[in-house]
Amino acid sequence: MAKTVTTTTSLKRLGVLTSGGDCPGLNAVLRSVVKSAMLQHKSKVFGFHDGFRGFMDGEFVLLDWASVSGILTRGGTILGSTNRDNPFKMADGKGGFEDRSAEVVAHYRKLKLDAVVVVGGDGTMKLAHGFHQKGVRIIGIPKTIDNDLIGTDTTVGFDTAVQIATDCLDRLHSTAQSHHRIMVVEVMGRDSGWIALYSGVASGGDVILLPEIPFQLEKVADFINKRHEEGKSFSIVVVAEGAKEKGRGVVTRMLADDPTHPERLGGIGEVVARGLQKLTGHEARVTVLGHLLRGGAPTAQDRLLAQEFGFKAVDLAGRGKSGRCVVMREGKIGHISLKEATSGRKDVPLQHPLLLAARASRTCFGD
Ligand code: F6P
Repeated sequence: MAKTVTTTTSLKRLGVLTSGGDCPGLNAVLRSVVKSAMLQHKSKVFGFHDGFRGFMDGEFVLLDWASVSGILTRGGTILGSTNRDNPFKMADGKGGFEDRSAEVVAHYRKLKLDAVVVVGGDGTMKLAHGFHQKGVRIIGIPKTIDNDLIGTDTTVGFDTAVQIATDCLDRLHSTAQSHHRIMVVEVMGRDSGWIALYSGVASGGDVILLPEIPFQLEKVADFINKRHEEGKSFSIVVVAEGAKEKGRGVVTRMLADDPTHPERLGGIGEVVARGLQKLTGHEARVTVLGHLLRGGAPTAQDRLLAQEFGFKAVDLAGRGKSGRCVVMREGKIGHISLKEATSGRKDVPLQHPLLLAARASRTCFGD
């Protein structure tokens, strides 16, 4: 799939950063970007620490062959921390916010960068689009375990998250069976149900609750009772953290000590488990997989995606492109505008083939 690079623009000085939540495969992407840039363009690569914060403060490390050697399988990011800092809206320490985007542009110019590659999710792509409009030559690489980025069939980190969730669900089957329990498993994915759907189907989950399909607990309880009548004394219920009961909102909690991101998604698993125990009379337990889905080594598929995305981003930057986001569509690597990539969210379509296939095998979606 890799094509020969035709260089029309100098890429002697390339910036790169990882931003947003961490996910498996970030280092694999960095490795691909650095190696491609060094070999294809003889670039000097500037890796900004701690996402956009490092770009804003001019904090970077020069990434060479040695710095990306042996990092393919490592979780997290070698560029310090990832975070959701937004230079256009930074806390000013006085309870308000200030726009510090000009500092990013100033460092871009001061370092005489030819382009910057940013690795991130929807929030990061919005920032990248903002900097593209300010004259920074920028290319986005989509990563998020949620797989909710528009315009791409998949994102770096998603496959690994699905694999981890599937492994956990397989293991929880033992306790569900041994104790005749309802095991409710809450998985991440924010407002999209991709992880819940894929891992739920892959592990043979009995009930899958998605943000895209508001559910009724009574219907889930009826389904579980019917299973019991048929001799199935346990049930596995996979619930996305953003799933909601019909007519109700998502379950969140407010953190008083975090003024920047006070609202935290999560807790629906507990609500579902309590409700089902009450309605069915069967013991229900909840397991929240949470950040387990974001850690450790990426799967082979995520490593391959990282390799191709990194190469493509460098190729685009080397051809003088800007404001583009690398994507994977129907097995082919391509690119779309950052404007398109940030034009909405990719939810699970109600006619998704996997969803229809699961319904056909009597998986309950609570509707
Ligand atoms: O966007 C990725 C994600 O892992 C979501 O699935 C989840 O809701 C969110 O990040 C959690 O973010 P944080 O770790 O910042 O609380």
